[in-house]
Amino acid sequence: MPPTNAAGCDSARVSRPDGAVRVAIVGSGPAGFYAAESLLKRTDVRVDVDMFDRLPTPYGLVRGGVAPDHQKIKTVARVFAATAARPTFRFLGNVQLGRDVTVDDLRFHYHQIIYATGNEADRRLGIPNEGIDRCTPASVFVGWYNGHPDYRNARIDLSARRVAVVGNGNVAVDVARILLRTRAELERTDIAAHALEALQSSRVREVFLLGRRGPEQAAFTPAELRELGGLEDADPIVDPQELAGCSVGKPGGNVEILRSFAARAPRPDTRRLHVRFLVSPTEIFAGAGGGVAGIALERNRLETRPDGSVVARGTGQIDRLEVEMVIPAIGYAGDRIPGVPYDEKAKIIANQDGRVIDPESRTVVQNEYVAGWARTGPQGLIGEHKRASAHVVGHMIADSVGLSERVLPPRDAIDAVLRGRGVQLVSFDDWKQLDDVEVSRGARRGAPRDKLVDVEAMLEILGQRV
Ligand SMILES: Cc1cc2nc3c(=O)[nH]c(=O)nc-3n(C[C@H](O)[C@H](O)[C@H](O)COP(=O)(O)OP(=O)(O)OC[C@H]3O[C@@H](n4cnc5c(N)ncnc54)[C@H](O)[C@@H]3O)c2cc1C
Ligand SMILES: NC(=O)c1ccc[n+]([C@@H]2O[C@H](COP(=O)([O-])OP(=O)(O)OC[C@H]3O[C@@H](n4cnc5c(N)ncnc54)[C@H](OP(=O)(O)O)[C@@H]3O)[C@@H](O)[C@H]2O)c1
Repeated sequence: MPPTNAAGCDSARVSRPDGAVRVAIVGSGPAGFYAAESLLKRTDVRVDVDMFDRLPTPYGLVRGGVAPDHQKIKTVARVFAATAARPTFRFLGNVQLGRDVTVDDLRFHYHQIIYATGNEADRRLGIPNEGIDRCTPASVFVGWYNGHPDYRNARIDLSARRVAVVGNGNVAVDVARILLRTRAELERTDIAAHALEALQSSRVREVFLLGRRGPEQAAFTPAELRELGGLEDADPIVDPQELAGCSVGKPGGNVEILRSFAARAPRPDTRRLHVRFLVSPTEIFAGAGGGVAGIALERNRLETRPDGSVVARGTGQIDRLEVEMVIPAIGYAGDRIPGVPYDEKAKIIANQDGRVIDPESRTVVQNEYVAGWARTGPQGLIGEHKRASAHVVGHMIADSVGLSERVLPPRDAIDAVLRGRGVQLVSFDDWKQLDDVEVSRGARRGAPRDKLVDVEAMLEILGQRV
């Protein structure tokens, strides 16, 4: 990529300072959109927002993470669309920071930058054979069933009868549930068509949800756990022994729900979801064909640290669980983006309370900020980003005094730079066209939408319409 400052931009063509602070937001997930909303609602400062996303489609994990059978939470997209309709907001989709545009470009064209790029990589178990066939990280499986273009061609082999899902968070619960739903339960959702087909011919009969700590430490939330008791063709199985040492717990809490599962007899001939605790995978076994043939599980005991935290400690007792597929769902991690300071240990963008810092010197990188999972790591619900992003915007406003005096190139100069590099920009109106196409395709199967999963196909649709 050519260096930016001069790139395609006539430096004599500059805009007069009009009192507006021009902000680039990279990432159109909840953190990016809530930051935009907070900036654009200000009455004390005029702000212009250009929001970039590497995909032609907005909304981050609201589109590519939230489970297809959880449609209600996705209605938050309407709130984001209302922000996008504000007059000084622009969406520049299909632009990847580090590939199509550089940090230096953004520094040249904007007064302030917010990185809201999420956590798109996965954490690793770090055990032997983790990379073999049918050991599929949750990020891949979730991206595949949600039609994320990166994973549309992922090899998801559902010939396994028994699957281990490692982790006790809500993502693990999502994955287990989607594996066990029937076609009737899924076809009226926005699940990707390829996943709907593959899941229909899935041979999966038993799923093992494996927690390394106990029921009282599980990260999944009661509403999500309870849902596992209402599947059309699958029943949760909990061995009462697993709950033996647990306190009574909160009414309606995880322990109470697990007790109700333990007391239930499964219906005959349904698929089974075994919920197990205090086990850690130590090795994945490969079969003759090279794919998963089993998993070694070490039995754990709990240990309370002086600070009160409860950790799992291996006992040395190892059992083999016969499964033919493993899906680790143990959390996400931030990718390193060229030019953006990275905190190697936390796997996030290096920052202090949302202000980007140099990880070595810990000095603040002026006018650069980070919001959402890129700032905190992969924890928290969509709604929580509203306050968190507003907090970061508070820093931006405090730091913005006099900033708008800095003369910038005209607002659309960045578009010309990107087009000059062969990037087909996708505006919010373009996205609305794609949205209409998806919604009308979905209507054929009674679903809210049938997603376009291929970037080239999306660009072709838009190309035909100009
Ligand atoms: C599988 C899963 C299911 C979830 N389900 C729920 C749920 O049901 N309810 C709930 O409240 N929360 C749920 N969450 C949590 C919620 O999705 C997150 O809290 C939230 O999406 C994080 O927001 P974000 O904006 O930081 O990141 P993201 O939503 O990941 O958005 C990041 C955006 O940045 C873009 N991007 C990344 N890198 C670049 C780059 N280099 N250049 C340009 N753009 C880039 C991405 O394309 C993406 O659009 C779920 C999370 C996961 C993983
Ligand atoms: N429906 C929803 O509302 C929904 C759906 C999906 C996601 N989300 C949210 O998105 C966020 C991310 O969810 P998540 O499930 O990815 O993360 P999470 O809630 O942090 O859960 C991660 C799980 O992985 C386990 N784990 C981590 N490392 C492990 C290892 N080496 N071996 C075995 N187990 C390991 C953790 O166990 P320990 O606890 O022992 O560390 C924990 O059970 C959460 O805030 C979640 O609530 C919400």
